[in-house]
Order: sequence, then structure tokens, then C-alpha cells
Amino acid sequence: MSYYIGIDIGTSGTKSLLIDSSGKIIAESAAEYPVHMPKPLWTEQDPEDWWQAVKKTVKAVVKAGKVKKTEVKAIGLSGQMHGSVFLNKKGNVIRKALLWNDQRTAAECEEITKRAGGREALIDMVANPALTGFTAPKLLWLRNHEPKNYDALTHLLLPKDDIRRRLTGELATDASDASGMLLLDVKKRQWSKELLAKLEIDPSILATVYESEQVTGTLLPDVASELGLSPDCKVVGGAGDCAAGAVGNGIVKQGILTASLGTSGVMFCHSDEPQYDKQGRLHTFCHAVHGKWHMMGVTLSAAGSLQWFVSNLCKELVQKKGIDPYAILNAEAAETSVGSEGLFFLPYLAGERTPHADPNARGCFIGLTSKHTRGHMARAVMEGVTYSLRESLDILGQLDVPVKEIRVSGGGAKSPLWKQIMADTFGQKACTINAEQGPAFGVALLAAVGDGAYKNIEEACKATIQVVDRIPPKKASQKAYDAGFPVYQSLYYALQKSFVEIGKLA
Ligand code: XUL
Repeated sequence: MSYYIGIDIGTSGTKSLLIDSSGKIIAESAAEYPVHMPKPLWTEQDPEDWWQAVKKTVKAVVKAGKVKKTEVKAIGLSGQMHGSVFLNKKGNVIRKALLWNDQRTAAECEEITKRAGGREALIDMVANPALTGFTAPKLLWLRNHEPKNYDALTHLLLPKDDIRRRLTGELATDASDASGMLLLDVKKRQWSKELLAKLEIDPSILATVYESEQVTGTLLPDVASELGLSPDCKVVGGAGDCAAGAVGNGIVKQGILTASLGTSGVMFCHSDEPQYDKQGRLHTFCHAVHGKWHMMGVTLSAAGSLQWFVSNLCKELVQKKGIDPYAILNAEAAETSVGSEGLFFLPYLAGERTPHADPNARGCFIGLTSKHTRGHMARAVMEGVTYSLRESLDILGQLDVPVKEIRVSGGGAKSPLWKQIMADTFGQKACTINAEQGPAFGVALLAAVGDGAYKNIEEACKATIQVVDRIPPKKASQKAYDAGFPVYQSLYYALQKSFVEIGKLA
């Protein structure tokens, strides 16, 4: 029997998954770690925390799966995108990594746009505008603000690729994750020599780009022995968590979209061609499907907004033993009516990406009255996040991208209420598939493809993923959300200038 491991290095924790070659999940394990916030809207993590979590969870699935070490044939890596692991020549991490939702690089985004010859020229080179979360602005921030660290830098890796380095000794990445660095010629699937030259970045600091199912190396002998695996175990390219999650949801052909509610919210669809939004509102990246692309919109704080609400405003629920705070909040929210009786939530707790690439944007509850309860607030959070996802869906519509089926996924989609809100707000059925593990499952399948268990990822998805549930929109609720949506959209513009002023005070 052959087995495969998928590892997803997420923001709140790492998840590892062991599957057999039919796609059956044999064992899973998760470990958490902190996000450091040295200033408002700055986020960092210690790559060593990721590594410890990877080792702990991989050892756990190997043990729980009771597999022989030679039976685990390949590993797939997925991870939070855009994060910057800065390495020196000894292979040591220079400083904590800046994360995908860190907003400190507005000046560097301007610098990149200027050096590239303007926004349009930049989009021509790398298919995307400069956004604060992307990796290239983080590198320039290091150059501008921590010159000593910049001088010591010899390599820049993405989070999952630093784990690959520790597993295999190889400096490699995959085209989907590399796209989010803003240094890849997304059309050609190779580093943009043109932009690198304009930014005066030495190309040798970047990793070799592979396709997601290609083998990038095998485990280092001492690592293999620590993990209980064979040094012949392969590590495939893998994918950024968005593309990996899409593969795990079977989004490997046109017409199906995944709406994923993780810490961030992602509206993702496959594209056979490198199609992009001239206004740069959606991201165009390489897909984890060999030689294909995808478009996506990202809401920075999606299930992360509800997590913030629970951890900071419902502490007594968190502290009570034996209860699930999310189940209680969902029940309270379900008691309230569609539209939260005029209460709106803007999910800009970490600034925003789609459609407002605005590091100054702030989270808000708007429309509070003394009648509103905690349940209304929880519902408003779910509704606000879903309105934000609908903005991405609308842009896809404007670009004539076909969306015939919406598959909902991620932690937030486990809530039947939130699933219904999505169906009602999108005006389409919210479909659920048999596999719930998103990115970790997607890269475990890519590992199986890399090992030859399937011809390609399309075949692997067809064999293992089916829709098991379709929730239709409720007519009256859909009408209410259609009426609420333009009000939600107007609130950002009403507050845009105030966000800048608020930022100056914080
Ligand atoms: C995608 C993005 C986030 C992170 C979260 O562009 O920034 O979805 O990958 O894990």
C-alpha cells in the first residue's frame, strides 16, 4: 500500500494529514502557534514555530496511521502565502517572517509601482498590482528599514518552502505560491527578470520554480529518521494554501468556484488562460494544476473576524469548560433575523485586499441600536464577511468568468447558518464536498500524483471528490441580502477618508 502526507502551514496552526492512494483519510493532526503583532496591522511569525508544529503533526499521523515507513511515498506542502522567510548564508532565519496580512509596506508598494513604470506596466509584468501583503514589498521594507538584516540576506523563501528546505535541504517553490511574491512572470511561470532588474533584486536569492506535482527532493536522512519516514520519501512542489485548498475542493476545471472561509476568505476559480482584471482588483496567479491559472479575491479577515469576536468579546464563553463558544454564538445568531435588524459589520480588521486594496481600512460595526444583542453582532459578522466575498463574485461576473457551481469550504463553512447566509447572499446553491480538509488534502493528492498514483491532478480529484450536499438560497432572505448589499458597499466609501485619520491616531 502507498500513503501520502499533506501538510498545511496555516496562520493559526499547522495541519498534517495521512491519506492512502484512494484518497481515504487515515490520520490527521494539528498544532497551533501564535501570531506576533508588534504594532497594529503588523503581523509576524517565527518560522521555528512552523517547523516544530510540522515535526509534531507529521510524527503524530505516522504513529496514528500505523504505516511502515517505506509505505509513505511522498509529501505535499501547502502554506499561508506571501510570508517572507529571510535567510542568511549559514541558512539561519534572520528575523521573524512578515505575514500575508501585514500592512506595513504601503510606501514600498508605491516604490515598486514607480520603479516598474506605473501600475499598468507592473500588471503587464507580473499580472498583479503591488499589494501590501505580497512578498516583494516585504523584501523592500527590509532593505529600507533594516539594512543590516538586508545585507545579511542570501535567500528569501515562502513559509512552506522554508519547511521544504528543512525537510530536504532544497531551495524550491511552486508556481502557485511563487505568483504571490509579485516577482513571477505569471504568464510564463518563471521569475520576471525584467521586474527583478527594475527593483535591483538579485535573482539568486529566489528558489527554483516547479509545478505543484513535480518532485523537488527527498527527505534528509536525519529528518527522515526523526519523523519515522524513509529518506526515499519524496517532497513535491505543493501549492500556496489558496490553490491547494482549491485542489482539495476539486476546483481543477472552469465553471466551479470555491468560497473558502479560513482566517482569510477566498473566492477562487480555475482559468485555462492567464486572464486578468485590468483594474487589478482580483489576483491572477498560477494554479496548482500543471500549466493552468486561477483568479481569486481575498477578504483578509473572514472566519478570522468571528475568531476575533469570540476571543476578545466573548471571553466568558471561551473560558467555560466543555462548551463550544462557536456553537453558542451560532445558536444566538440563528435566533436573530436576516440582515441583523440593520446592523452591518465591515470585516477590515487587518485592512483589506479585495476589492479595496487599502491598508488603512478598519473593522466596524455600523447601525448599532440598544436592541442589538450579541447574537445580532455574531450574525452581522458572518453577513459582513459574506457581503465582502460577494464583491469578489460580482467582479468575476463583470469579467464574464462563468460560475456554475459554488463549493463552500474552510472552518467557517462548518456552520450551517453561515452556509445558508452564503447561499442567500450569492443567490446560488452552497455545495459541500465529501473532503473537508482543503489545502492539506489538496497537497496530499498532489503528492499522490507526483508519485505516479494518478496520471494528473484532474484524475486524482475526479476519483476522490464528490459534492455531498447542496443548500439552495431562500427567496425572501436572498431579497433581503440583495437590498443590504449596496448599503454594505456604500459604507466603505463613506468611511474611506476617516480610516486614514483614524490610522494617524492609533
Ligand atoms: C492569499 C492570502 C491568504 C493567505 C492565508 O492571497 O493572502 O489567503 O494565503 O493563508
